[in-house]
Amino acid sequence: MKLDVYFTPLGLTAGDLAGRGVIVIDVLRATSTIVAALASGARGVVPAASSDEAVRMTANLERDGFVLAGERKYLPIPGFTLGNSPREMTPEQVSGKTVYLSTTNGTPALVAAQGADPVLVGAAVNFGAIAERAASLLKERGELVIICAGREKQIALEDAYTAGRFVRAARKGLRKVVLNDSADVALGLAQRYRNWLDAYTTSEAGRALQALGWEQDVQFCATVDRYDLVPSYSDRMIT
Ligand code: MLT
Repeated sequence: MKLDVYFTPLGLTAGDLAGRGVIVIDVLRATSTIVAALASGARGVVPAASSDEAVRMTANLERDGFVLAGERKYLPIPGFTLGNSPREMTPEQVSGKTVYLSTTNGTPALVAAQGADPVLVGAAVNFGAIAERAASLLKERGELVIICAGREKQIALEDAYTAGRFVRAARKGLRKVVLNDSADVALGLAQRYRNWLDAYTTSEAGRALQALGWEQDVQFCATVDRYDLVPSYSDRMIT
């Protein structure tokens, strides 16, 4: 069995992922936000590679059927209804609507993972549900890929830590799971921090969010198993 982690989606091609099961992680904050939106009753979330693309995709849609959301440099995009805070994804804002989301690293990573099957959306907030699915995918298929969105084309500690927790959970009780080097490093990180919040607040993204006054978002995203959801991305929409 083989379990591979990628710390960024850079260099991955559709051919690398065809027919493989993938978990995409951008815990601060895109994948946490997506899980929260679905938990609040959003009809689906459409990840966009850019804010222009999100605007283009919604140009001919009925106004009350969708919400534009996203961030640049952690701040809401001018003209969009919502930012990228999971706490903004309330039933009042998103229930029954499709959320078109554009973020700096998270949504491009999801778009890059298209072609894999399934593409699952992972975070601490739905950790247990995704970990269970990851373990059965690994057993059934003999392989699993975890793609971290990363930050500024580099490893992001909070994603790598979370990947390590998924690696640990997915291979539990299995013999002979071969890890790539990044999966091995991620596993080490999962052992290094006291808990989720410790890893998330230590990370550059966590520190940047806290400096901007988004401490509560970091805490929200570091709260494990808030939701029992396994969001899956196919036909351009996460449901
Ligand atoms: C990203 O996509 O880079 C992040 O989700 C940024 C953020 O936390 O808003």
